[in-house]
Amino acid sequence: MKRINIVCLLAIVLLGGCGQQPSPRQETLLTQWEFSRDSVHWQAVTVPHDWAIYGPFDRNNDLQAVRVTQNFETQITEHTGRTGGLPYVGKGWYRTTLDLEEFDPTNQSVALLFDGAMSNAQVRINGKFVTEWPYGYNAFHADITEYLHPDGKNNRLEVSLENLPNSSRWYPGAGLYRNVHLIRTDKAHIPVWGTCVRTTKLSEQEAIITIDVTLEGCREGLRVLTTIYGPDGSVKAMYDGEASVPLMQRIRIPKPQLWSPEHPGLYRAVTQIYEGESNRKLDEYTTRFGLRQVEIVPNEGFYLNGERRKIQGVCNHHDLGPLGAAVNKAALQHQLELLKEMGCDAIRTTHNMPAPELVELCDEMGFMMLVEAFDEWDLPKCENGYHRYFDHWAEKDMVNMIRHFRNNPSVVMWGIGNEVPTQCEDEGFLVVSFLQEICHREDPTRLVTAGMDRADCVVRNGFAQLLDVVGFNYRTHKYTEAYELLHQKLLLGSETASTVSSRGVYKLPVELKAGARYPDNQSSAYDVEYCWWSNVPDIDFAMMDDYPWTIGQFVWTGFDYLGEPTPYDVDAWPSHSSYFGIFDLASLPKDRYWLYRSQWRKDVPTLHLLPHWNWAEGEKVPVFCYTSYPMAELFVNGVSQGVQRFAKADTVNSGMNDVENSAATMPRYRLMWPDVVFTPGELEVVAYDAAGKAQQREIICTAGEPDHIELSCDRKVLDDDGLDLAYITVRIVDEDGNLCPMATNDVTFEVSGAGSLRAVANGDATCLVPFQSRTMPAFSGQLTAIVQSAANRGTIKVMAVSEGLTAGSLVFRVK
Ligand code: GAL
Repeated sequence: MKRINIVCLLAIVLLGGCGQQPSPRQETLLTQWEFSRDSVHWQAVTVPHDWAIYGPFDRNNDLQAVRVTQNFETQITEHTGRTGGLPYVGKGWYRTTLDLEEFDPTNQSVALLFDGAMSNAQVRINGKFVTEWPYGYNAFHADITEYLHPDGKNNRLEVSLENLPNSSRWYPGAGLYRNVHLIRTDKAHIPVWGTCVRTTKLSEQEAIITIDVTLEGCREGLRVLTTIYGPDGSVKAMYDGEASVPLMQRIRIPKPQLWSPEHPGLYRAVTQIYEGESNRKLDEYTTRFGLRQVEIVPNEGFYLNGERRKIQGVCNHHDLGPLGAAVNKAALQHQLELLKEMGCDAIRTTHNMPAPELVELCDEMGFMMLVEAFDEWDLPKCENGYHRYFDHWAEKDMVNMIRHFRNNPSVVMWGIGNEVPTQCEDEGFLVVSFLQEICHREDPTRLVTAGMDRADCVVRNGFAQLLDVVGFNYRTHKYTEAYELLHQKLLLGSETASTVSSRGVYKLPVELKAGARYPDNQSSAYDVEYCWWSNVPDIDFAMMDDYPWTIGQFVWTGFDYLGEPTPYDVDAWPSHSSYFGIFDLASLPKDRYWLYRSQWRKDVPTLHLLPHWNWAEGEKVPVFCYTSYPMAELFVNGVSQGVQRFAKADTVNSGMNDVENSAATMPRYRLMWPDVVFTPGELEVVAYDAAGKAQQREIICTAGEPDHIELSCDRKVLDDDGLDLAYITVRIVDEDGNLCPMATNDVTFEVSGAGSLRAVANGDATCLVPFQSRTMPAFSGQLTAIVQSAANRGTIKVMAVSEGLTAGSLVFRVK
């Protein structure tokens, strides 16, 4: 039945002929809504919108008196700030009007697609119930043609939402926080997520792909033409045939260009439906995909396109710190750029479905993804968590997740759950098999994993045996046993580290410690503090280096997030955001960034020195250096403090997270001078190559009094889409430009021209100043201002002023 229509092919390629007819498909984002918390008072809002991020912060917002069984807590305690101390609980209503020009209900279809609505969404049109979706992280869609007025005019679209208290372990956000799409098509069309591209053969010479096309409103005499465009934009292949239900197209692509984090080349399949006789185009649907091969070989590891690699990933929650949960592509891109620079190549979307914008960016920028569905199955972690919906909704949620992202090459694995209490149930394996089978049925091409933290149960009760990939959260000391007992003969660190630190806050003496708490509610930036269930990053590096059957790790977490302020989570208000991030809530790197970079980035050198150099005269201050060079020498005011080299591993690592093993492992990954006597002046490190030749140096100077404000930003030009963002790093410096490491000066921002101040953040988990304030104190001498472009061209001027300091300014172009 395959037949290439040569006339059409030539017309498209040479003359821009039949392929260039406009398609009746129209996709628009519904951004302008009215919003109310009481369905009486309404305000105009722009969607994506997170109603709770405006605060105010309050200890009593979703104050959870719980016993966290997951953490083996023995009694009920007040978990303060668990969901960010923000007012996400309660009801919210959104409404807007749909006016469809030239609406023809007999020959057209109209659908709504919600990328996610937090939560318990109920959708009504003209007063009639259309659809509902409880899980706030998932996308869902509905055909709304029959609910619309026949003339298409003045249709009332209403969405009601409700977040229950005690329903989350972190800040979920609230409202229509992801995009809402209105999709108008001909009656004959490809519905939402209606294509499925699979690679059935991949060699240097050719790739064979199949495209399953779902057709709605299919009638006699329709043709379906698919054109494949390569990463360079040129036509690579075509398929032209009669429409049928079901319809599968098999296409050969010569000389395939493979997708990988290093070379994220993307193909496009443009599928067009034509009316046979008139050759009228009825629909055009674009599917972006990639050609790549993922393989897992027992005892050997994870292979991408035939090359073995260990996953260098991070877990992230969905919130964007000071922007809340409201999705913004520029913000996601900013995060990914920072992670790429660190050498990160993978993201685990914890513990839920990501925004499509994130998946698209991972496709484009080159990140592998572990897309995870749930934090709860049938048994609760939170009183009002997902377990309430599991029986009725789990399959629907899985199906939507998989159909949504099955064509994205970045997605290399599905995650069916995170530390679900069901792990230790005798019949927990039945739920694994139920969920994993849905994955295999919907997408036979991808492997399935789950993040398991109850090592002892899962290796014996059948739970771990069933999974395609064994994923362990922490419990590095159990890796070997699991490897030996389980048939998969491989292990993924699905969640690792949970090291806690506050940017720029160095605690003396330096002590390896689980659960350390201090009166200032901060954790030490020396990267030596963790939770009783977790460990310092060094142990994870060692597990990856020492065991060929470990396939990589996802660090908890890339970025700090709102809520879960462990170890300040019990009776520790005002802490309300996490301490786990490699980057803080203001997207500023903590020292750990350079530790990961020194291990993960092989193509460029890393050299980083800590702590700051402002101490009391004579104090003994440990100095650490995170570097990719094999050795380095430290100097204080020119006086050598000795050369340090990385320790060699004399035995394979036990994975124990106790002080002894941690202390023994750290010298493999950090250069450390434990007793440097502080004298004001210059702390300098000189890095040497293996031959002992000096290669690079870094100097930290003792800073004087705050003198002026320095602003910097990695971009100077913003798009005029009204959504683009610039993250401005604000530093309080002395007169010589040295960072004042303790400065807490209030900084006020004035933004004028073609943009506005979107948010401010300083990375201090205890700071209760609203993110929308114009004034925010610096934390450890720094903070971040996020400026958003207007929907018109021009320039944006940003001024940062603070009493007693010389102001800083920056100018951006918007075009
Ligand atoms: C894990 C859990 C994460 C987060 C983390 C903190 O057990 O999967 O969601 O709570 O601990 O260390």
